[in-house]
Amino acid sequence: MRVFNIGIIGYGGFGKFLHNAWVALENVQVVAIADKNAGMLSPPIGVKVFTAWAELLLEKDIEAVAIVTEPATHVEIALACMQAGKHVLIEKPLAISLADAEKIMQTRDQTGMVAGIDFIMRFNPLLQTIQGFTQQGVFGKLRRVDVENYAQDEQLPPEHWFWYPERSGGILVEHAVHFIDLVHFFAPAKILKVNGLKHNRNLQQEDQVMANVLYEGGLIATHYHAFSRPGFFEATLIKLAYDLADIELMGWIPLGGTLKALVNPQTKEALLASPFFELTEATAIENASDESRPKGWGISLNTEIGDRKTLRSGDIAYEVNEIVSGKFQMLRSKPEVYADGVRASLLDVLKKIENPEHPLLASLETGLESLKVAIRASDSARQTA
Ligand SMILES: NC(=O)c1ccc[n+]([C@@H]2O[C@H](COP(=O)([O-])OP(=O)(O)OC[C@H]3O[C@@H](n4cnc5c(N)ncnc54)[C@H](O)[C@@H]3O)[C@@H](O)[C@H]2O)c1
Repeated sequence: MRVFNIGIIGYGGFGKFLHNAWVALENVQVVAIADKNAGMLSPPIGVKVFTAWAELLLEKDIEAVAIVTEPATHVEIALACMQAGKHVLIEKPLAISLADAEKIMQTRDQTGMVAGIDFIMRFNPLLQTIQGFTQQGVFGKLRRVDVENYAQDEQLPPEHWFWYPERSGGILVEHAVHFIDLVHFFAPAKILKVNGLKHNRNLQQEDQVMANVLYEGGLIATHYHAFSRPGFFEATLIKLAYDLADIELMGWIPLGGTLKALVNPQTKEALLASPFFELTEATAIENASDESRPKGWGISLNTEIGDRKTLRSGDIAYEVNEIVSGKFQMLRSKPEVYADGVRASLLDVLKKIENPEHPLLASLETGLESLKVAIRASDSARQTA
């Protein structure tokens, strides 16, 4: 891949993190940054600095721009970038309204620029592995996703833009879109119903939110997010319930998790082929105990456990012969995986600039789908508040 000159608009917490991560890419040069508080920044030598982002767009050698400002500003900046002939990587959320998101997509189509959204979870190798298993049906049908996320608010004083829905979109739009998109990545399906709940700490700050989503085919996802903890106590748990497996992933940049699954020789082989999976226990199904009905129960449809190689779940029959337990683990640190994710996300956009046939892993369409859910849940939460 050739070398690309990149500009970053918005050089706060995350803009700087992106820059630090991208320094390691030999085919990427961040040549300019723009931030309304440019006077406060100390950028590396050789990087041009602008206070007005429109001036960065006049730099002819910049091919692509990362938009890393607060969410309500994404639409104006994204439109101007693409109209100035710059490809874009837009931070999540794509925008804070569906109308703005659609404007961004129309401008992409009219200008022919490449535009991606920075959904870094799609670039996490462990999540990619689980997505692959899900798509191949290794665990049977995915029926339930439950996200429990307790985030810190120590770095978010009451005046921060995050607490103003007209600037951030609110927690479901600003933050939950990552996890909503993860569900769409694992098991894309038509959205049928959405509802939400919220709690306000005071008139301004919504600090706990929840969304329930029903998808065609029966998958129900729940997203709970609270921003009311010290950083030391941040916790995220993503539970996936399939017909043949329970998976629990830990952390919002998951590095590992646990699995209990019913397998057959083919699905076991697929699992064991993953470098991230370690088997800790395997029991032949005829030796495993099924305690859903205690001994002595009057009528049971299954006479002998030994006959139970074909199991039914919902209306689906599965051939299985073992129950296995194990753990998923990437032997890497969270900062490494996070930085690799933002590198892969930018490289995906650059690959598409070089080769228009390259399919973007995080397209604007994915940004729109997750935004639809987040906005419907937020509207529902505010109506029922
Ligand atoms: N993908 C991820 O994992 C991830 C993580 C954190 C943040 N984000 C996203 O990144 C974006 C920025 O978040 P952040 O935490 O860095 O916020 P931040 O407040 O730390 O930084 C935003 C920066 O943008 C600048 N800015 C705002 N409006 C501007 C304008 N009109 N012109 C020029 N500069 C402007 C601000 O001065 C600030 O320096 C948000 O969309 C957020 O959701 C994504």
